[in-house]
Amino acid sequence: MYTLITANQIAQRVTELGAEISHAYQSRPLTVLGVLNGSVIFVADLMRSIDVPHRVGFVQASSYRGATTEGGELSVQLDNLPEITGRDVLLVDDIFDTGRTISRLLDELRRAKPASIRSAVLLWKQGRGEVQQTPDYHGFLIPNEFVVGYGLDYDDDYRHLPMIGVLEDADLRHKDQSVSDK
Ligand code: IMP
Ligand code: MG
Repeated sequence: MYTLITANQIAQRVTELGAEISHAYQSRPLTVLGVLNGSVIFVADLMRSIDVPHRVGFVQASSYRGATTEGGELSVQLDNLPEITGRDVLLVDDIFDTGRTISRLLDELRRAKPASIRSAVLLWKQGRGEVQQTPDYHGFLIPNEFVVGYGLDYDDDYRHLPMIGVLEDADLRHKDQSVSDK
């Protein structure tokens, strides 16, 4: 694995994003809505950089990657959705890859009639988009590599890393090997 974005670079960029978002939502009833599990660290840092009052909630989305690096069938779960009718919503995820997760969640959330809805992602992977939608706020554009750390996982590992790292072939083969050996 090698480091693509350091913890310091992330901290600096999250502070900038927080300032931009604070400016946009002054005197607005903002709800920051994180997408579990990948967004937890980003949401925790971002909300402390947003200096206008806001609520926080979470929804869940998963695309069944397991030990692969390709997404499968997308499932979303809105059971813990807070009241967002008439409020401004900022949907926050770790990464915009094909965009299917963000696009599907925006469609579902619009049914609850929020006053407005925008999306923010830490990472925007280039060359992968499969939907019309693009994120309203993004931290970093990244190349088409499978990344982990700062909330992002490979088969549920590596989320705790403070930086963003790129998994190399050896990391993937090792993991796939140990899974198929079971
Ligand atoms: P999308 O629906 O294709 O945009 O994918 C979004 C979801 O796939 C993210 O919330 C991540 O959970 C996962 N994902 C996409 N690319 C990566 C990656 O490089 N590393 C880890 N997870 C990823
Ligand atoms: Mg995710």
